[in-house]
Parts: sequence; structure tokens; C-alpha cells
Amino acid sequence: MKTVYSAIQPSGELTIGNYLGAIKNWLQFQDEYKCFFSVADFHAITVKQDPALLRERSRKLIAVYLAAGLDPKKVTLYINSHVSEHAELAWVLHTVVNLGQLYRMTQFKTKVQSGDELNANAGLFCYPILMAADILLYDTELVPVGDDQKQHVEITRDIAERFNYQFGETFVLPEALIQKSGARIKSLQDPLKKMSKSDENPGAYLLLLEDKKSLEKKIKRAVTDSEGIVRYIDEQPGIKNLLDIYHVFSGDPIDEIVARYEGKGYGHLKKDLIEVVDGVLSPLRVETERYLSDTTYLDEVIKEGTLKAREVASNTLQRVYDRIG
Ligand code: TYM
Repeated sequence: MKTVYSAIQPSGELTIGNYLGAIKNWLQFQDEYKCFFSVADFHAITVKQDPALLRERSRKLIAVYLAAGLDPKKVTLYINSHVSEHAELAWVLHTVVNLGQLYRMTQFKTKVQSGDELNANAGLFCYPILMAADILLYDTELVPVGDDQKQHVEITRDIAERFNYQFGETFVLPEALIQKSGARIKSLQDPLKKMSKSDENPGAYLLLLEDKKSLEKKIKRAVTDSEGIVRYIDEQPGIKNLLDIYHVFSGDPIDEIVARYEGKGYGHLKKDLIEVVDGVLSPLRVETERYLSDTTYLDEVIKEGTLKAREVASNTLQRVYDRIG
């Protein structure tokens, strides 16, 4: 049985990008694969977090996983910091990675302004090593993620190969699994940029748990163009992004959606898009609240997930310690 691992940082409220690029795709694996889906709280502290809020968001993320349809009887859901093997393996892996490899990571460059590198915290720079530890601990073969995480899965493969070469076969080499649609949802205000929960402008993203009124306001204000024709082309990135969102939320083929709006203005497309998005998010909001209010159940899911994850993680770590002496 193949193993699947993926995680999300509890560093802010989730956007529809996190849902469409990750969670929604995880569901297809839960029946036939051994799945580990976790909350990457160790990653989140590479930027300043309010401790109480971090704790709350970590639990909320588990509630979202459940609300989205992940079944804890089939998959392992847990919070990374509850399984300290993540940090232990990360340390060992630090010793097989060279700084040059880390310098090539584009995410660090986008998060830290040029010239400011020496003031950035070391965790932010070394973050791909922690991600490699997350993945390698579970002998993961597939890592379903959005497009922006591809480079991190590639460095994970590199690290695993390097370790295996130095110490003998230890790690399975993982592969990123990036879906064709939904892998890179763009900002509503700057459709050349990725939609990100850390964007300064809240109008740039749609939150997963955002109410309809707010979704409506943001979609209506989404940047488009002056062409006035609904087409799915790179030259109209704003409309293309809205069509992508429409497509992944509704499941309707892009050309069908485009045909539907022939001769109609962008207003029609936006109006329907609001309904399509809210049609999926509204039940998700209700379910998330339901799981959040059932603290006993939520605690139980997290506790059981931790035990299951730890069992696998401790075996892998022991294997690693044996190898390195
Ligand atoms: P994070 O928390 O930034 O994002 C979680 C997942 O959401 C995807 N995503 C998107 N997909 C499509 N369009 C977007 N606009 C968009 N924004 C985010 C991301 O690609 C990701 O799949 N380092 C990871 C978390 C992590 C992890 C791991 C992932 C830690 N350890 C091990 C996989 C395996 C991160 O920061 O994701």
C-alpha cells in the first residue's frame, strides 16, 4: 500500500488555495492509500506567531480536515509538534544538506527581502529540511501539494538520496503530486501572484471559512481587464483565475463555463461564481464549527492520530540512528 503525506501550516486562516491545491485532493487517497495528513505547526513558528492563536489554529485545522471529509478511521490526522521525531530527524538531516542547496530555494527569497538575509531567522532558511523530515519519517511515496511546494519535495528527494548514498538504503524517495487544476490559485487583486494567506491585502484572498457576504464583496472587486470577453487565456489572467476557481469548485469543464458566458459581461460570471464558491464553503463552515465545538471528539482524534503517527515515526528514526551509529 502506497503512503501519502501532506501538511498545512496553521500560520493564518486557510484560503481557498489551500483547499483546492491540497485538502480537496487528499480525499481521493483515503480509501486506498496509507495517509498521514498533519498540521505543520513547527513550520509556522518560522514567522512570529501568537502562542494562544497558534494552538487554536492548529486545532481548527484538524476540524477543517474532518469537515472536508477526511475520515480519522482511514487516515492519520495529527499535529507535528506532538510527534517530536519530526524535530529529531530534521536535526540529523541538517548534517547532510549543504547551504548551497538551501540558497536555491525560491520561497526563502520571496519571504526575505534581498539584503536582509542575515536578519532572517535560521528556521526560515532551514525550513525545507524540516519539511523533508516530515515527509521522510513516513516512508512517503506521494506528496499531494500545490505547485509552490514542488521545489521542497524535490529537495526532499535530494536529501533522501544523499543520505542513502552516505549511510545505505534508508529512505523512500517521495514524489510531489500536483493536480492539473487548482494547483496555483492566484490573488484576486494581482492575478500574476499566488493567492496567499499572508497577503497584506485581505481582498486578495478568499478564506475557506469566510461568510457569503464577504466572499461576495471580494469576488465583485476581483481585478479583471477591459476586454469584456470571457476567455481562458494567459493575456486575461484575472478572468482565467476566476474560471479556474469556478472549474475546481463546480467540476464543470472550462470550455463549458466559457461557452455559458459568451456575449455576457464579467458581472454575470462573478455573480454565479459567488454561488458556486459559497455552495461548497457554506456546508464546510457549518461542519467545521460542529467539529470545533465537540472538543472531546476532536481531542480524541488528535490523540489517536498522534499515537499512530508516532509508531511509524519512531521506527524510521530508530532506523536512521542505527545507520548513523
Ligand atoms: P502551506 O501551509 O503554505 O500551504 C498548504 C497547501 O496549500 C497549497 N497552496 C495552494 N495551492 C493552490 N493555490 C494556492 N494559491 C495555494 N496556496 C497554498 C500548498 O501548495 C500546500 O500544498 N511547507 C508547506 C507545509 C508542509 C508540508 C510538509 C507539505 C510542511 N511539511 C510536508 C507537504 C509535505 C506549506 O507551507 O504549505
